[in-house]
Amino acid sequence: MQFRPMRQADVPAVSAIEARGYAFPWTPGLFRDCLSAGYHAWVVESDEVGLLGYGVLSVGADEAHLLNLCIDPVQQGRGLGRRLLRRMIDLARWHMADRVFLEVRPSNPTAIALYRSEGFNEIGTRPRYYPAKDGREDAIVMAMELLPPER
Ligand SMILES: CC(C)(COP(=O)(O)OP(=O)(O)OC[C@H]1O[C@@H](n2cnc3c(N)ncnc32)[C@H](O)[C@@H]1OP(=O)(O)O)[C@@H](O)C(=O)NCCC(=O)NCCS
Repeated sequence: MQFRPMRQADVPAVSAIEARGYAFPWTPGLFRDCLSAGYHAWVVESDEVGLLGYGVLSVGADEAHLLNLCIDPVQQGRGLGRRLLRRMIDLARWHMADRVFLEVRPSNPTAIALYRSEGFNEIGTRPRYYPAKDGREDAIVMAMELLPPER
């Protein structure tokens, strides 16, 4: 299994996973924009299956923001999401961020449990942040303080 930077050529396969993973998926254009903007987008892949999942992180000033974390639904529940999350946190640390933020839907207990168990705390909400079937859904904002990387 490899962890490597996402390339523009990955966008169709990434978008296919995104469409399976979320009720309100990012468009392919959004992934392309993230790559053009220099966000830290990485994929997990295996030689046998191909792309298994991906994460997108933006880093600015002392803060990192985890913008997307997704494992192909057929590959979920095998520890891949946790491994990928740890890699994305390592990336934030590598870029000298002091803390990592993320938003998550209250209706996503799997992701919330994962983030909590890796050390994220709930620090607030963003009202009506996400599109939802019946209008909008709030976001829970979570954050984790990072220790500086070992030098
Ligand atoms: C959230 C997500 C990345 C987790 O990836 P995953 O590979 O399935 O997760 P893992 O197998 O590493 O499990 C990590 C933890 O998630 C939780 N979890 C996993 N599957 C679960 C399930 N079916 N029910 C409840 N909790 C579950 C558990 O806390 C688990 O830890 P444990 O195995 O030590 O109990 C994945 O479900 C996903 O891509 N979902 C769709 C996209 C999404 O919602 N992303 C997050 C947006 S903020």
